[in-house]
Amino acid sequence: MLAPHVGTPGALLPMLHALQETFGCIDESAVPLLADTLNLSRAEVHGVIGFYHDFRRTRPGRHIIKVCRAEACQAVGAESLLDHVRRSLRVDDGGTTADDAFTLQVVYCLGNCALGPAVMIDETLHGRVTPARFDTLAAEQREGAP
Ligand code: FES
Repeated sequence: MLAPHVGTPGALLPMLHALQETFGCIDESAVPLLADTLNLSRAEVHGVIGFYHDFRRTRPGRHIIKVCRAEACQAVGAESLLDHVRRSLRVDDGGTTADDAFTLQVVYCLGNCALGPAVMIDETLHGRVTPARFDTLAAEQREGAP
């Protein structure tokens, strides 16, 4: 999984992506291995992981919920939707629900600005999401509906 990237310029990012794709997160134990392999300091590896918000240090829930809070979505209620999502799921930003069903990520633009507030659940984008619609979508995911 990592071997094809060793020796190529800028190998750290593809290696981090490969680790996360395989294991769901970047485990702390990978940092010294990556640093030694790529002749980087551990601080440099930590810096890259911390800089890119898509890299996770812990395993996510079964479904990733991304709520947009960029300007266009804010103008149509994204903040109150986000407050509702946090209360409904009982998680803070970046957190995972107690049943491991959902991980909440706050993002800045999902490319659906004309149909805000925008929410992405796994790979599916939803527009004009109200708190009630969010609850329906979350319940469908919990029940395994498409
Ligand atoms: S501002 Fe929310 S999708 Fe672009």
